[in-house]
Amino acid sequence: MRLKDKVAIITGGTKGIGKATVELLIQEGAHVVIGDMDDNGIELAKALSKPETNCTFIRTDVTNEEDIKHLVNETVKQYGKLDILFANAGIGEATMIEEMSYQDWQRVINVNMNSVFLSNKYAIETMLSSGGGAIINNGSVLSFVGQASVMANAAAKGGVANLTRTLGVNYASKGIRINSVCPGYTLTPIITSKPQDFIDGLIKNHPIGRLAEPMEIAKAVLFLASDDASFVVGSNLIVDGGYTAQ
Ligand SMILES: NC(=O)c1ccc[n+]([C@@H]2O[C@H](COP(=O)([O-])OP(=O)(O)OC[C@H]3O[C@@H](n4cnc5c(N)ncnc54)[C@H](O)[C@@H]3O)[C@@H](O)[C@H]2O)c1
Repeated sequence: MRLKDKVAIITGGTKGIGKATVELLIQEGAHVVIGDMDDNGIELAKALSKPETNCTFIRTDVTNEEDIKHLVNETVKQYGKLDILFANAGIGEATMIEEMSYQDWQRVINVNMNSVFLSNKYAIETMLSSGGGAIINNGSVLSFVGQASVMANAAAKGGVANLTRTLGVNYASKGIRINSVCPGYTLTPIITSKPQDFIDGLIKNHPIGRLAEPMEIAKAVLFLASDDASFVVGSNLIVDGGYTAQ
């Protein structure tokens, strides 16, 4: 029970990496609030709630400042504090610049980067008044390298990495540890919905010879959220089966 009685917000917790992290943090004793646009989170939260660890769902569009304020304020109202934020919600994209509208570019930047600014901002405000916490942003291998046709996502994730470094530096002395996890390609609906030959192509780029299971990323998030990472600050932790080591 590495997170006994801790209170965590996980954005995008209804599916994929977020869902696996919700499950793992609950196992480790945390109360978890899922902030997601997908109302399947209501049933998920009910199913995962236990007498000693509560799970709640708050409908949230992470690109909407009022929604994020509400998510953080409601969490503090219900549980009295916020110890952990996993800013995880994100969307995929596969478009070359000639085919991408400015509106689509802005949508990806909003969901994958601007939302991280918003959730970090309001989480930091409340953590400052309660004595500290841990924030984990969801980056990507695209925080470090480019890849054909995912340019807006790569731009967003590069931004998340440097935002994480900067916020990590700014708040370390105030008891808030801010890091990111940077997954390689992971078997979540974003990826499993693609054709098998596309998935096979991705596998070839991972020296380990397979894609990640969501729980393998969740375990890295747990590490960063827990006291095991007490000296880890402003780090973008790569969990990618060797993808960026080549
Ligand atoms: N799957 C991968 O290969 C991979 C690799 C590297 C990084 N990532 C990152 O991991 C994170 C999670 O991705 P995933 O693969 O689990 O995806 P997923 O599609 O399985 O889950 C994403 C979740 O985010 C939610 N979401 C999307 N837009 C939202 C919004 N505006 N407001 C609130 N919730 C919203 C969705 O409803 C969903 O529950 C993303 O930030 C993604 O960029 C994924």
